[in-house]
Amino acid sequence: INAATTALSEKLLSYAGHGIDKPRVLIICGSGLGGIADILHSEPSLEVSYGEIPGFQQSTVPGHAGKLIFGLIGEKKVPVVCMVGRLHFYEGYTFQQTTFPVRVSKKLGVETVVVTNAAGGVNSEYKPGDLMIINDHINFPGFAGHHPLRGPNLAEFGPRFQPLSDAYSHSLRNLFFKKAKELGVTRSIYEGTYLFAAGPTFESRAEVRMVRILGGDAVGMSTVPEVIVARHCGMEVLALSLITNAGVGEKPPSAFEENPRPLDDGMASHDEVLESANEASKDVQKIFAATINEL
Ligand code: 6GU
Repeated sequence: INAATTALSEKLLSYAGHGIDKPRVLIICGSGLGGIADILHSEPSLEVSYGEIPGFQQSTVPGHAGKLIFGLIGEKKVPVVCMVGRLHFYEGYTFQQTTFPVRVSKKLGVETVVVTNAAGGVNSEYKPGDLMIINDHINFPGFAGHHPLRGPNLAEFGPRFQPLSDAYSHSLRNLFFKKAKELGVTRSIYEGTYLFAAGPTFESRAEVRMVRILGGDAVGMSTVPEVIVARHCGMEVLALSLITNAGVGEKPPSAFEENPRPLDDGMASHDEVLESANEASKDVQKIFAATINEL
């Protein structure tokens, strides 16, 4: 963590005075949401690919580029660092590796983390293209012992027993919602619970029904580890799911039927995820620009 922080600080040194060397917000871009980086002013900005930073791993997923962009957002020129390309547990990384950039950004002085993801809709009201402000989560792997804070507590960052009952800042959620309204965004915006599943498979039908019973409104393969580590080191969190496809929870056709209904009630695919994300990304960018301008 210290080596990465030092390496980035040295690169940023030559930008001192331009305002981008002291980022206050970390933005983590989800699948197909890398366009969020377009809301940064084009000048001044600094791109650093993960390969140049000691301790950073490479992102291996299509749609996740693998670089940090330092820049400014909004009229008020809020200094931010944008992670284009996140790391996932299913790629084989440990949670220490996937959440490493969060702790490095804390060391660089970041106070607020804005996290986005593409997620499957589990709540039956949700349609592809809807947005869900995350107000709570279920850390499903965490219950089986796969937890980013497992192991010796890093007391320089935070406490052994971190509460998560207030993980998703009310004031940031409210600000996001107000800005969306002011901007006249017509896309549906819900608020709900995100269930983190390790992946990399999309859920089976029975698993979608299980997630529904457990109280998940959306399901995905990221975000929760980063949020936990961010809260552990005292950062405020705003998290947004873009619903890219409906989780399919209907039972499959019966073996006892001669002519089963065709399996056309949907099948999640990464192409579908990227396509929906691409369209909705424009609205997300507008709302984020207005929201982050107020931070
Ligand atoms: Cl349906 N499931 C999971 N786990 N992640 C997703 C998804 C579904 N759609 C986008 N990301």
